This record gives sequence, C-alpha cells and structure tokens, in this order.
Amino acid sequence: MDVKEAIRHRRSIGKVKQDPIDKSLIEEILEAGTWAPNHCQTEPWRFWVMTGEGRGLLGRGYAAVALSEANPDLSADELAKLAGAQERKAYRAPVVIAVAVTPSATPIVPEIEEFAAAHSAVQNMLLTAHALGLGTIWRSGAPTYHAKMRETFELSGKEEMVGFIYLGYPDMEPQNAKRTPYAQKTIWVSE
Ligand SMILES: Cc1cc2nc3c(=O)[nH]c(=O)nc-3n(C[C@H](O)[C@H](O)[C@H](O)COP(=O)(O)O)c2cc1C
Repeated sequence: MDVKEAIRHRRSIGKVKQDPIDKSLIEEILEAGTWAPNHCQTEPWRFWVMTGEGRGLLGRGYAAVALSEANPDLSADELAKLAGAQERKAYRAPVVIAVAVTPSATPIVPEIEEFAAAHSAVQNMLLTAHALGLGTIWRSGAPTYHAKMRETFELSGKEEMVGFIYLGYPDMEPQNAKRTPYAQKTIWVSE
C-alpha cells in the first residue's frame, strides 16, 4: 500500500476478531516501529507482544490500577468483580503490543524528544498494520501512566508506557473521520 494511502485511510478500529495473527506479520509491525526517527540513534523504545494468556500481564496491570484506586468500602466480592472486569479489557484483541519509552541519559537528547521518537514508532506500527490489512487502536487512558502499571511491566527510572496497540483483523467498518483543513493550522512564512 502506498504510504499516502495508508496515512489517509488508517482509522482506529476498536472492534477486532479474535482470530490469531501470524507471527511474521507482528514481526513486520515491530520492525516498522524500530525505523522511526530518533535523535542521536537512542532507539528509546521497548515492546511487549501479548497474545493468548500473555494478555493477562496487561489485565493484571489494569486490575492493579483499579484496585489501588477503589473505594475502600467495597466488599471482597465487589473488589473481585472490579478486578475481573478490568482484566477482561486486555482481551479485546488477539494481540496487544505495549510500547514504552526508555529515555537515554544522552544530554543532547531531551526527554521530550525520546517521547517523540517512541510516539513515532507507534505511528509507524499503526500504518504498517493497516497496510497489512489489520486493524489497530492506540489505547491509553490514565491507567497507562499509573505507578501500578509501571510496576506490572517492571518499568524503571524514567521509563514510561506510551500506549497499548490493540491489534487484530477488523470486525467493524472504519468510522467516518474528519480533520480540520491544514490551512487553519498553518502559517506560511516566506520573508
Ligand atoms: C496518545 C493517544 C492515545 C489514545 N488513547 C485512546 C484511548 O484510550 N481510547 C480510544 O478509544 N482511542 C484512543 N486513541 C485513538 C484516538 O481516539 C483516535 O486516533 C482518534 O479518535 C482519531 O481517530 P482515527 O485514529 O480513526 O483517525 C488514542 C490516540 C492517541 C494518539
């Protein structure tokens, strides 16, 4: 698929089939992530590919976040229900790729640029998945950046999760998308 077409027609696909995805396709997606621009070649990203019961890793992260924030008056039964509902969120796609930024200590590269590189890696991955006929949605939300999620994925130092890519064969039509014309966001400067 032409890159322009991939950029224009990629849409978030929140509902995917549970059909398994060939490892070779997942590897292509990961490879695309590693070709993102990154200042001083720091390659500041880490990936976790979660499939099958492996998705429980993320599920346990969601549950740990929810339990740590839960109303202390909840009964054991209510807490168990809450944890179960949170864990199930990780099973919304057959493959979930967690992407974290691992900022380098290089003084030339400010942390903000390491995030920029990791986010670029995610975009490369979304576009590649789309070109392969797969659907993705970049999911985040407050739990992504929560201390309990960091603990679950054993992030250390300045490492941060930047998002979860839910990946699978689409089970919905892409939604209509709208963008503000670039002219409204652009100043042309020529002298
Ligand atoms: C950093 C980031 C985090 C996002 N987190 C979520 C999320 O938690 N849940 C969700 O439904 N979509 C999430 N999205 C996807 C956006 O909702 C989606 O890209 C937007 O609605 C535009 O739609 P499109 O991707 O189809 O162009 C996220 C996107 C980005 C860039």
